[in-house]
Amino acid sequence: MGDIGQTEGYPSAGRIPGHVAIIMDGNGRWASQRGLPRTEGHNAGAESVRAIVRTARRIGVKFLTLFAFSDQNWDRPNQEVGALMELLYRYVLGEYDEILQNNIRLTAAGNLDRLPGVVQQALQELIRRSRKNEQMTLCLALSYGGHADLVAGARRVAEDVQSGRLLLADINAEAFESRLLTAELPPVDLLIRTSGEQRLSDFLPWHLAYAELVFASVMWPEFREPQFYEAIETYQARERRYGKTSEQLPSENPRGAQLRAVK
Ligand code: FPP
Repeated sequence: MGDIGQTEGYPSAGRIPGHVAIIMDGNGRWASQRGLPRTEGHNAGAESVRAIVRTARRIGVKFLTLFAFSDQNWDRPNQEVGALMELLYRYVLGEYDEILQNNIRLTAAGNLDRLPGVVQQALQELIRRSRKNEQMTLCLALSYGGHADLVAGARRVAEDVQSGRLLLADINAEAFESRLLTAELPPVDLLIRTSGEQRLSDFLPWHLAYAELVFASVMWPEFREPQFYEAIETYQARERRYGKTSEQLPSENPRGAQLRAVK
């Protein structure tokens, strides 16, 4: 975990969440409010993606997982699905150099086989080229559903037990987690959802078990650096007890201790 106080222009210091996951909601409403087609909302949302990836990396977030397309999103009108796939393709091509030059490792989670071939190829190429990068991992959840993730994990456990690779007695949280589609992701520290909706929408059910949830009222295209900092400050003010009492926590952890003004 880094120290946000070293970041110029940032108002406070404290714990930086190691893994931030974001449900980027409200592109469509942002566009409707402006009399624009929904696809314009997604285009503006892609700008927020760029801004938040850059900021997350700069302040020391180690994992950033973005819910870019759910397995339910395939049911949207064909034209919108097509526009989102094209946007994703353009994003991967457009961010190629930025991701490589900034030491970011790209990964993806979900049923990637459903993505158009050209998107899969561009994605896999950047995933391969960036695989040794270490500054931050950017995981795009694409064609992702949490239930499908858990079911895939259960299926792998069953297969491994059936084939003798795993003993029934050895099934535990670690054994299960290592067989998820999202096995490489650490637990989420901070989950942000924009647009004022307060739902998890089948996003990372396993990894969100102890996450702090922050719901921002702005639509995703309006979620930029100041709103991100605000969410992190909210996180820093929370006391994470993991089922323990306040008194049992290390002295540096209790609520408020993380917010040291450096202004
Ligand atoms: C939710 O808003 C957003 C999506 C379904 C897609 C998210 C995509 C982006 C942010 C842009 C592209 C992503 C990348 C990684 C380049 P919504 O359409 O459900 O909004 P609404 O609830 O207001 O209708």
